[in-house]
Amino acid sequence: MTNRHRLTSVETVEDDGAWLFTVRDQHDMNQEVILVPCEDGVTAWVNNCTHEPQRLYRDDIGVVMRDGGIVCPKHGSIFDACSGDCGNGPAAETTLLSVGITVEDGSVYLTDDAVDFLWEGGNSSDDDDDSGPSSTTHLTF
Ligand code: FES
Repeated sequence: MTNRHRLTSVETVEDDGAWLFTVRDQHDMNQEVILVPCEDGVTAWVNNCTHEPQRLYRDDIGVVMRDGGIVCPKHGSIFDACSGDCGNGPAAETTLLSVGITVEDGSVYLTDDAVDFLWEGGNSSDDDDDSGPSSTTHLTF
């Protein structure tokens, strides 16, 4: 059976320049994935540079695109947004890890059996931890 989870609309990806979400992979690890617009439509890539463990999407600036490519914020290698291929800089001759999606009627669906959708946004749970009081009063006698 194929996983099929509606992620967002093509329009949102085009307007925002990128759309970040988190999946659980086959090794039970959480992975961030980015949707980016390209001339063929929308593509999905694991949010990691192939050169070093560096996120391509950053919370402060999102994904930097140049000439139809995703720019790595660390050393500047550029990955083609349609193919994921890199032809320059320290990540040259590598390709981003793709995630299976389907575009239908203006919506983007996750259709990759190897992963399960977890949530929209990144994998950091630090923000959530700050929000509530850390009371343990129910454990005291
Ligand atoms: S970490 Fe991306 S090019 Fe070096």
